[in-house]
Amino acid sequence: MIFYQLPPAGNKIICRRQHDGDNRVNDCFPGDLFFFNSGAASLAAAVLASIQHLKLAEPEVLLPAYACPELVSAVLYAGAKPILVDFSADRSWMDLDVISAKLTEQTCAVIAVSLFGIPERIGAIKNTLQGHSALVIEDSAQSFPEKGAKSATDADLVIYSFGRGKPVSVLGGGAVATLNSELAEKIRQIHCDVKPSESVRWRSQLKIQAYNRLLSPRLYWLPTMLPFINLGATVYHPLREIRQMDLFGVEILGCNIDEYWRRDPLTQDLLMQGIASCEHHLVIDLAKQCCGERLPRLIRYPLLARSAELRDELCERLNKKGLGASKMYPDTLPNIKGLARMFEEQGSSPNAQSFSQRIFTLPLHEGVSEKKILHILDEIY
Ligand SMILES: Cc1ncc(COP(=O)(O)O)c(C=O)c1O
Repeated sequence: MIFYQLPPAGNKIICRRQHDGDNRVNDCFPGDLFFFNSGAASLAAAVLASIQHLKLAEPEVLLPAYACPELVSAVLYAGAKPILVDFSADRSWMDLDVISAKLTEQTCAVIAVSLFGIPERIGAIKNTLQGHSALVIEDSAQSFPEKGAKSATDADLVIYSFGRGKPVSVLGGGAVATLNSELAEKIRQIHCDVKPSESVRWRSQLKIQAYNRLLSPRLYWLPTMLPFINLGATVYHPLREIRQMDLFGVEILGCNIDEYWRRDPLTQDLLMQGIASCEHHLVIDLAKQCCGERLPRLIRYPLLARSAELRDELCERLNKKGLGASKMYPDTLPNIKGLARMFEEQGSSPNAQSFSQRIFTLPLHEGVSEKKILHILDEIY
């Protein structure tokens, strides 16, 4: 048992409002912005708006076969059928040919996920959809716009999450943004129709204080030992209700966005250089493979091992030393408990399956010192 464990992701949350008169939060996002109580709720609202927009009787939504189960919860909540799309080999991107093959007259949307912060190819997906009315929803739960890059998206709708371990976290909440005024009207109506979340300032402040403390490597091992907390476990929970985001969360968002932008991307740069000088080529630098030398800001550093056995061995070695490696979701969506029957007629997704067995991530948060990066690289070399 090791009493020192770097968390795989997560930065301290600032519990402070921005100065009065600043309305900069809305300026950080493209178009109109609506806050809901989670990323999943925001995605559900985006899918609902797509269904209303296209007026389909039996709507279907395409989504990657390797993703967090909240995507399925959101699609089902909105009343659509989730249709899985395999990845391209050794990429975190959906295979465009599979998207084409799975489009039907009932497809109302394609969910394009920026996994770890690696952007999906929204333009290429839109080209694949040519002649089809399906919308593209960018799931940006794991990425956040850079300062001044607010309108850099071709997606019809973009969703964000402000939950635990996300680029900008206030321990819960999410948002939908759109540049399309018709869709904005639909989201506005959905937002008006749902209840506000209860906002109890002292309770939120206490939760944030506790969370900030537990991010310390000397305490993080504690919740990992408590089975009822289920930290990091991938479990399917149906979405029962969506609400507006709590006001306290919205109030402190601005300061946390500023802090996100202020954070130095040094850890990411050092890891990228370190992995590049690794001569055995047993791991693929996924972000570099997808984006080239100029990486976007990532929330975790994703590596694809050459084999599942090697991935497991590397994670075990890293975590024995408390270095915060994570295997992410354990499998593709049909193999997550509670989802098998839903997808039994959809065939297999071999690339996503292989990805799920070989992917692991290294931590990039503010608690990772240069010394820790060297320790991490020592274990991988
Ligand atoms: C890609 C992606 N989409 C959606 C969600 C759901 O966000 P939330 O946890 O805020 O409901 C997550 C959560 O981890 C996610 O990683």
